Amino acid sequence: MLPRDKPVLVTSALPYVNGECHIGHLRTYVPADVYVRMLRKMGYNVIFISGSDTHGTPIVLSAESQGVTPDVVVERYHEHFKRIFEALNLDFDYYGRTDSPANHRMTEEIVKRLIEGGYVYRKNTKQAYCETCNRFLPDRYVEGICPHCGAVARGDECDQGCGKHIEPGEILEPRCKICGSKAVFREQEHFFFRLSAFADFLSSYLDNLGGTLNARNYAREWVKRELRDWCITRNLEWGVKFPGRDDLVVYVWVDAPIGYISFTEELLRERGVDGDEWARYWKNNGATIVHFIGTDIIYHHCIFWPAMLKGADYSLPDAVVASGMVKIEGKTFSKSRGIVVWAKEFIERFHPDTLRYYLLTQSSHTKELDFSWDSFFMRVNNELVAILGNLIYRVLTFTYKNFGVVPEGEIEEEVRTAIETARDGVLSAMAEYEFKKLVDAAMGLADFGNSYFQREEPWHLIKGDENARRRCGTILKNVLQILKSVCVLLEPVMPAKMAELWYQLGMDTDVHDTKLEELMKPIESGQKLNKPKVLFRRIEVDKNRGV
Ligand code: 2FM
Ligand code: ZN
Repeated sequence: MLPRDKPVLVTSALPYVNGECHIGHLRTYVPADVYVRMLRKMGYNVIFISGSDTHGTPIVLSAESQGVTPDVVVERYHEHFKRIFEALNLDFDYYGRTDSPANHRMTEEIVKRLIEGGYVYRKNTKQAYCETCNRFLPDRYVEGICPHCGAVARGDECDQGCGKHIEPGEILEPRCKICGSKAVFREQEHFFFRLSAFADFLSSYLDNLGGTLNARNYAREWVKRELRDWCITRNLEWGVKFPGRDDLVVYVWVDAPIGYISFTEELLRERGVDGDEWARYWKNNGATIVHFIGTDIIYHHCIFWPAMLKGADYSLPDAVVASGMVKIEGKTFSKSRGIVVWAKEFIERFHPDTLRYYLLTQSSHTKELDFSWDSFFMRVNNELVAILGNLIYRVLTFTYKNFGVVPEGEIEEEVRTAIETARDGVLSAMAEYEFKKLVDAAMGLADFGNSYFQREEPWHLIKGDENARRRCGTILKNVLQILKSVCVLLEPVMPAKMAELWYQLGMDTDVHDTKLEELMKPIESGQKLNKPKVLFRRIEVDKNRGV
């Protein structure tokens, strides 16, 4: 588990704001949010940071194709992402944008430190150039063949094949993305980061890096094979200028992760904390830094980023947690081919908490998640409705009708044990970054609640003598304790629905602020229950399929 004596800084990867949010994004952000909420319940002091990645060719190309300037695209989608994240209750302490003045300043500062440290040099290098458009073709402006695996690839990454980073000048058979002509290579002077100097550092750093094994192992393999220096400038107008050069900006993968630092600074400033407090997090190892990312950007977070931080003498990330990619009905995710599920459309039809639940339970965190509508309907109907919703509604309507309040009674040993088992399951899932296991542990307690209620048959006891009615009260108090515990454990997973349950249970605190100690505190006898309402409704599969 993470050390208790420092704050935890959790980040989730910064989406490019060049289009709408889809479930591929949420596959990383929802677990990060669950992780943060649960850490808070465990008593950690956490800050949770993300923001929009506003630079690079993803933005510029999208602007060009829409006939607008990049800032128009950024403005539009930055607001869009913020709205979606709010609707999904992603509880960021700060959601910034990499074109902020603070990030420009921080990037310049870090690049200058790398230059002073001797880690940056100039070199003549081959760059793809379009003789029809008369311009250089950085990154996504060029398409060709991946030199590593032979798949069709973008200029800076093999997005449809092996996923590797591609340096300018490496792509084979380059073509201009704008006009389709064959591109040529032209010599031009650029700036390089001496990544090769960090090989020894990275191999020992990776040995101790926390987080998921997929991230560590992938990066280790890469370091073992070869680390080539990294071209960190591009011929673009839009971006953070390379110090002293008006004609070049830094590669987007320089200023994007630096956003994590700038957003920490911006957050602390917003909170009125002294100006240099961010440095405690990022320069003096004053925080545990945990990055949530997708597996496609392991290379950037486990190799480029720590090398840059080390070179500039900043604190290093402690853990990198990488979620597997998303497929749709067995097919590779692709926005251009329409194989995509948009977040906005989804949450217009179904409650955002059901999407959160689905993304967490459909597969183990590091494995591929194959989205299908049938599996979504199945999880909602067979799990949220049949197990959880059923328990909540049966218990609450029965108790509300017969008692109106939480009855008198002691919490029984088997119930305590079941709650402890669920709590321990949740804690070990947190240590393993296995969010499916976390939900399963909490749902296991709901399952236990159903069997306990069924076995004790309180509907017979209520009709019996005084003793039987007292026993009925005890049973109900115990199942209400189970409901309260399930509610605390599932709040990080379904924050809106669990707030409703908390209210129905008559609790007068805020469930979002509850700590795990609450699990063992008996629910108060005499506490008035609120009128129960159905929390989860069945989805009519035939009506919703294929819509
Ligand atoms: O791959 C992406 O979508 C990038 N925008 C992620 C950046 S994460 C961080 F390093 F900024
Ligand atoms: Zn490849």
